[in-house]
Amino acid sequence: MAEQVVVAPGPRGVAVVLAAGLGTRMRSARSKVLHPALGRPLVRWAVGAAQEAGLGVAVVVHHQEDLVRAALARDGVAFARQAAPRGTGDAVAAGLTALPGSGVLVVLCGDGPLIRSSTLTELLDRHCPEGAGPAVTVVTASLAAPGAYGRIERGPGGEVRRVVEAAEAPPELVASPEVNTGIYAFDIGWLREHLPGLRPHPPKMELYLTDMVEIAASQGRVAGWRLADDREMRGVNDRRELAEAARILQDRITAAWMERGVSFEDPASVTVEPEVTFGEDVDVERGAVLRGRCAVGAGARIGAQAVLIDAVVAPGAQVLPLSHLEGAQVGPGCAVGPFARLRPGAVLEAGAKVGNFVELKKARIGPGAKVPHLSYVGDADVGAGANVGAGTITCNYDGYAKHRTNIGEGAFIGSNSALVAPVRVGDGAIIGAGSVITRDVPDQALGLGRADQRIIDGGGALSRERARQRSQQRPSSAAAPAPGSGGGRSDG
Ligand code: UD1
Ligand code: CA
Repeated sequence: MAEQVVVAPGPRGVAVVLAAGLGTRMRSARSKVLHPALGRPLVRWAVGAAQEAGLGVAVVVHHQEDLVRAALARDGVAFARQAAPRGTGDAVAAGLTALPGSGVLVVLCGDGPLIRSSTLTELLDRHCPEGAGPAVTVVTASLAAPGAYGRIERGPGGEVRRVVEAAEAPPELVASPEVNTGIYAFDIGWLREHLPGLRPHPPKMELYLTDMVEIAASQGRVAGWRLADDREMRGVNDRRELAEAARILQDRITAAWMERGVSFEDPASVTVEPEVTFGEDVDVERGAVLRGRCAVGAGARIGAQAVLIDAVVAPGAQVLPLSHLEGAQVGPGCAVGPFARLRPGAVLEAGAKVGNFVELKKARIGPGAKVPHLSYVGDADVGAGANVGAGTITCNYDGYAKHRTNIGEGAFIGSNSALVAPVRVGDGAIIGAGSVITRDVPDQALGLGRADQRIIDGGGALSRERARQRSQQRPSSAAAPAPGSGGGRSDG
């Protein structure tokens, strides 16, 4: 999707995501909103929730602007630049340049990855019943430890009066549990009219978006709505909060998949990123890690401690423990591992088997073919039903370029063979164990590329006798001559 200058409203309006701050408490060279939770930058979680709720999104940027833009390049958002981070009020004022003239605006923080789209939908429903809502609905939460959040001051009738930052609040308000989540719904036209009225707060001389609440209250046009689940408002300010947010997001993802028929041996032990998909009756064992765009088909099993990155596992396939798959495709009914490594371009067709300590790269393993143990198969095509013996290596690299190996249907590669590419082993051909194959082997042929075996009758007994004689002539090890003393001896 192309970047927009003015955001195209979604069916429910628009959102602005504030992402201009640096986030010093992360102690990082990287802007806070770019730190990933479950592989996705924080700012993308907030953007995603807004988009799922039917909102077009503008993002306010300043710190590491280019990197933030790049992280959102495929999300179809508009950007607005804040000249300097002069507070949340100034940030929204910058955002207005990328927003339509009127309508509903939801304000979100780029460091708040836990807000749910369903909560935003409910906020919109409340803010504009039949289109004529208050100028602002501020989303609040009750916290046992309200900390540094802005406090909500309510009047005698319970109406919201204003938001006061904790540092500026009188003691009785500091003690109050109700806080500003930093999430609001605004009437854009009203915001355009009144934002220029904000006055800077000393000592930092920042413009506070929260002051808009007091202005709206003076007009009787403010509503407050308290979140049922206060975890949704949790912002990320340091690494501990980043880990806690990732934990909450992970619990939501595994819970949703369990509802859809996936079993996790120990849900707390797995990593399942948001774009991973599962069919029904998948079993995921303890400690499995699935990142990126993995797709796991119905009835498949992902073994303990397996790592899958952008991997496709077809229905009924088994990925056994401790295997590592990246950019690989595993066909229906295949078995992989334990301890297999499938690198990008590894493709296993139906019923193929790849066993322990096998590495595959850019290699197709045909239907029912087997590479059971200790092999490297790269830049190769293995035909249906072929059997690649233990210790087989495709020598795909000559120091300058990569070359392909073709193994025909039903071929049999004896153990410990080296296939020096480019080379073809024909259909039904057999390679003797220990061969170094440098030339093509025709269909149905036997290829042998090893020294002939010799038999020396009685040679075994003779060898043992020689060894015995040598050990008698040799001085004892305690009295071994020092190196260079001339005591060295060769058997010739
Ligand atoms: C703000 C609220 C506070 C609320 C809290 C909720 C104000 C004055 N205070 O406080 O009442 O409880 O959020 O989390 O609004 N940002 C910009 N440009 C700026 C300043 C901030 O884009 O010039 C962005 C930040 O990157 C961040 C968000 O706005 O994503 C919130 O800013 P932050 O400084 O964290 O506000 P708080 O002090 O936490
Ligand atoms: Ca904050």
